[in-house]
Amino acid sequence: MRIACFDSGIGGLTVLHEAMKRLPHEHFLYYADTLHVPYGTKSKEDVMRHVNEAVAAIVQEEVKALIVACNTATSIAISQLRQTYSIPIIGMEPAVKPALDLNRTTGKRVLVLATPLTLKQSKFKDLIARLDDQSIVDSLPLPELVHYCEQLNFDRSFMSNYFHTKLSSYPLQHVGTVVLGCTHYPFYTNILREILPSHIDIVDGSAGTVSRLVQILEHEGPVSCSLQKDGYDRVDFRCSSQDQAYIHKMETALHILRNQ
Ligand code: DGL
Repeated sequence: MRIACFDSGIGGLTVLHEAMKRLPHEHFLYYADTLHVPYGTKSKEDVMRHVNEAVAAIVQEEVKALIVACNTATSIAISQLRQTYSIPIIGMEPAVKPALDLNRTTGKRVLVLATPLTLKQSKFKDLIARLDDQSIVDSLPLPELVHYCEQLNFDRSFMSNYFHTKLSSYPLQHVGTVVLGCTHYPFYTNILREILPSHIDIVDGSAGTVSRLVQILEHEGPVSCSLQKDGYDRVDFRCSSQDQAYIHKMETALHILRNQ
């Protein structure tokens, strides 16, 4: 049986890409809710409804586990999904813990970039309250970035200008780590790397989420985790708008990640 991976759009491919590297013998089903992307600028109630509909469609396909490869959907719907379905459901959360571990002794700050909706949720606020004992975590919503990503806008000069504008009022000399708290954002890691001061680390949550998936699968039997990069035909793509052009876009986006 396949492992499902779900996001509003192409963002979850950054997690799928990591899962495919770690689990070279597994098959995957990737589902994008193209009828409703983006989630991060919608209301909590709307996103809850869209996620429930999307996951109901996914589980019809018989999958053995589900990665909610979307920080926004996780922060809103993960508890309810786990109550509704018996398959293992693995969520995403901004990688605040690894970022804090990197900065506890440096005196530098942590900057979390995410969608407006993720940053507003109690799940994020609780995470900060639980871990940020030195009050060194700041956050910045990037409401336009998912749209640029969905357009496959990776134009270096346009995107550098965008990030410069967004970060212009932020004292980057005091930042030690930037957390990419939306699964779309790692598509821009290379561009961010170029414009951020070199002392800043960039982290995201995909490795942690995939490690959790591997742990869960291991419970059910031996899992081969060798780091080979073959077999990229092991994904069935689906989208809620059933749009062939979007399926092609997902293949292109996965290809971009492979070549990053
Ligand atoms: N990629 C998603 C996330 O991790 C959602 C982005 C969106 O649809 O706004 O938050």
